[in-house]
Amino acid sequence: MIHIDQEMLFDVGQREALLDRVFGPNRFGKTSERLREGRLPAEGLALVARVGERLVGTLRLWHVNAGGVPALMLGPLAIDPLFRGEGLGTRMMREALQRAAAHGHRAVILVGDAPYYGRFGFSASLTAKLELPGPVDPARFLALELVPGALAGARGLVRATGAVPLFPRVRDGHRRAA
Ligand SMILES: CC(C)(COP(=O)(O)OP(=O)(O)OC[C@H]1O[C@@H](n2cnc3c(N)ncnc32)[C@H](O)[C@@H]1OP(=O)(O)O)[C@@H](O)C(=O)NCCC(=O)NCCS
Repeated sequence: MIHIDQEMLFDVGQREALLDRVFGPNRFGKTSERLREGRLPAEGLALVARVGERLVGTLRLWHVNAGGVPALMLGPLAIDPLFRGEGLGTRMMREALQRAAAHGHRAVILVGDAPYYGRFGFSASLTAKLELPGPVDPARFLALELVPGALAGARGLVRATGAVPLFPRVRDGHRRAA
C-alpha cells in the first residue's frame, strides 16, 4: 500500500538519495534550482509517497513571483524506478494540485516534459511572457492556472519568494533541492 503524505524532517535523507539517483549530480545546476536554493517549500506542499518506511516518491512546490503574480513552482517530481508506471506520479500530481488550490494558490509553473505534464493541464502558452533566471527550453517551461485567468497579467522575470529557513544547516536538505 502506497501512502501519500506530507514530508517530515526524517524524510530528507531518503528524499535526497532518491533525487540523486533519479537526476544525478548535475541537478543543482538547473535553472529551476535558482528559485529553490536557500528557500523552504510552500507550507503543506512538500509531499512524499511511502511504502512502509521506504520513501518512493517526492514532489514539492515553492513560492515564486511570476512576473508580478504570486504563484507556485512545482518540482522536482521523482518516483522510485521500481514504482513507476502504476499511476503514482499521477496520484502525487493530483494530490499536490488539489492541496495547492485548497490553500488558495492560483497558478503553478514548472520546467518539465510537456507530454507528461500536459495531462494535468500544464501548457507552454501560459509562460510566453515570462522569463526564468537562467536558460530554459521554452517548450519545457509550462504553467497551469488553478483559477482561470490567474496568469493573465504575468510578464517578466520569475523570482523566488519562499521563506528562508531560520537554521539553514539543520534544514540543509530543504536548501539543496533539485
Ligand atoms: C515522470 C515520472 C514522475 C512519472 O511517474 P509514474 O509514477 O511512472 O507516472 P504515472 O504512472 O502516473 O504515469 C505513467 C504515464 O506517464 C508517461 N510518462 C512517464 N514519463 C514521461 C515523460 N517524461 N514524458 C511523457 N510521458 C511520460 C508513461 O509513458 C505513462 O503513460 P501511460 O499512462 O499512457 O501509460 C517518473 O517516471 C520519474 O520519476 N521520472 C524521472 C524523473 C522525471 O522525469 N521527473 C519529471 C520531471 S520532467
